[in-house]
Amino acid sequence: MSNLNSTISLTSDIPNVVVLPQTPQLIALFTIIRDSNTQRGDFVFYSNRIIRLLVEEGLNHLPVDNCEVSTPTDLPYKGLSFQGKICGVSIMRAGESMEQGLRDCCRSVRIGKILIQRDEETADAKLFYEKLPEDISDRYVLLLDPMLATGGSVIKAVEVLLEKGVPEERILFLNLIASPEGVKTFANLYPKAKLVTGFIDAGLNEKKFVVPGLGDFGDRYYCI
Ligand code: PRP
Repeated sequence: MSNLNSTISLTSDIPNVVVLPQTPQLIALFTIIRDSNTQRGDFVFYSNRIIRLLVEEGLNHLPVDNCEVSTPTDLPYKGLSFQGKICGVSIMRAGESMEQGLRDCCRSVRIGKILIQRDEETADAKLFYEKLPEDISDRYVLLLDPMLATGGSVIKAVEVLLEKGVPEERILFLNLIASPEGVKTFANLYPKAKLVTGFIDAGLNEKKFVVPGLGDFGDRYYCI
């Protein structure tokens, strides 16, 4: 319970950070992907389950308009419709794992890519490549990266989006596991953006990996 309590107390003070409800289902899914004995097939399958939950929660934070439709009984139904255009932007490599979950919920969604890698010695994030939809400044952006450690990678990615004219308040960062340091850095630097995460872990180790974490997400999803 101590982990859960620390998650809740950290985020209650930070309005632009949302942690997924800690249901038994979610905790069971995290238990599988955190287990170092879990093989790649299961790691991919159960990570995808959590990604789907994150995307569904993220969509709850997009603006909607009131609208009315007529049902087959010829009666009106007062409902809601999504207001603006969206796109996904994945921080390569690990963020690409979240693209399919977004596509499963948002048919034909446009997806841009930003290649940022952490230097393995210094943990400093370096930008190598970006390819984004031309009209990205008119869209809400769902930024995808499963791990938030120091925050260096997501900060670089947000800098690119802001340079392209995306308003900060239209950026929604979807993330599986975050460190408290990364959450505070992101939330303080970008108070108008939003972070939706699955869990906030205890901290960072000397190599700047999230702990207890799950190791290197990209390696476990794509390679090992
Ligand atoms: C990992 C992870 C994040 C980043 C988080 O990527 O997927 O992008 O590190 O760390 P940070 O918050 O300290 O920047 P990595 O650079 O290892 O590349 P990968 O996606 O190819 O695994």
